[in-house]
Amino acid sequence: MSQHFSQSVAQTDPIVSEALKNEETRQQDQIELIASENIVSRAVLDTLGHAMTNKTLEGYPGNRFHGGGQFVDVVEQAAIDRAKQLFNCEYVNVQPHSGSQANLAVFFLLLKPGDKVLSLDLAAGGHLSHGLKANLSGRWFEPHHYGVDGDSEVIDYDALEKQAMEIQPKLLITGGSAYPREIDFARMSEIAKKVGAHFHVDMAHIAGLVAAGVHPSPFPHADIVTCTTTKTLRGPRGGLILTNNEEFFKKLQSAVFPGVQGSIHSQVIAAKAVCLAEAMTDDFKVYGSQVKANAAKLAETMQNRGLRIVSGGTDTHLVLVDLSSKGITGKRAEVVLERADITANKNAIPNDSPRPPEWVGLRLGAGAATTRGMKEAEFETLGNMIADLVEAEAAGDTDATVDRCKDAVAKLCKSFPTYGA
Ligand SMILES: Cc1ncc(COP(=O)(O)O)c(C=O)c1O
Repeated sequence: MSQHFSQSVAQTDPIVSEALKNEETRQQDQIELIASENIVSRAVLDTLGHAMTNKTLEGYPGNRFHGGGQFVDVVEQAAIDRAKQLFNCEYVNVQPHSGSQANLAVFFLLLKPGDKVLSLDLAAGGHLSHGLKANLSGRWFEPHHYGVDGDSEVIDYDALEKQAMEIQPKLLITGGSAYPREIDFARMSEIAKKVGAHFHVDMAHIAGLVAAGVHPSPFPHADIVTCTTTKTLRGPRGGLILTNNEEFFKKLQSAVFPGVQGSIHSQVIAAKAVCLAEAMTDDFKVYGSQVKANAAKLAETMQNRGLRIVSGGTDTHLVLVDLSSKGITGKRAEVVLERADITANKNAIPNDSPRPPEWVGLRLGAGAATTRGMKEAEFETLGNMIADLVEAEAAGDTDATVDRCKDAVAKLCKSFPTYGA
């Protein structure tokens, strides 16, 4: 047998091999609070590394452009069937290579260049693939954005309705990457109908909560739904598109392939099937409730410590902290947290500076640490540590606090191990 088939990366590539080992150790030794992250199961991980990666296929199960697709057909059909069952909808495309690509396929399906799109403002928690000027979605279409109410920091549906009437968008989009509250999908659907727009929900962040039944579903209100299989759904990196509209679906298949993609990532689709089956279990329902309980405890703890939480709390896995009263930026908070082995990210808050280095938000999420088994008690500890670190950073005296928190994080990580640690 050629060494090509037998040597591991450790034997062939010391640079990559060492980085892989270091990354595994980093994941074990740090507490992950980045809201878009999670920790996939060993089953998902093994599937991603399978030789199914070698298979090139275009088209859909039973109708491919290449031979030898019979086993990939099995996994793609399983992923489709499971997603339909899990999200209670009629039609699913499981091929998008990412969430952004799923959204691009929706634009390709429903819009012509120059058409008007109305989506949640990035600073209010939207996503760049919903019409940011620097993104193709904002460059080739005409983006307009709605925000949140100045006091409640929740979507102002009356203001949105007025704006939609004025703009008359072809597509109304909701969902985002930093909006911590439940969205009133029924009301938004009414608004879309009133102005003759299609209604698209991007549930990338909350898909796992929807699957677990702890967050309202965008169905039956949305015309089309996209999501990533990462984040709360706890699967591989990739996207899904779901709809109940048969006409959309027929065109959607060709909007994905050959519209915006070529061949499929067969092994990723297999891993999507695995994660979707996991998301149907009772364990996943328990996981989803725990994620919400942990995020709520994190928000409450930090609020009790004098940190302002955007919108006053959370209905999801996500908590957005406003650091402006502490006089530090999100970037400074991100750095001091990482020194204590807690990873999070700076984020814009409503009406924040357009310049990322000046953003005063810190975004946190409960998905990954909940997967490790942490519960409310640990999230209370984490909330207090974050408050301590922010206060220390604001006072310009961080070393002792960082050392103390780093020790506490090390103990937590040891008690809640990941893969084989
Ligand atoms: C709401 C939303 N949509 C789409 C995406 C894009 O997903 P991807 O990074 O897979 O392109 C994200 C990613 O963070 C997201 O939060």
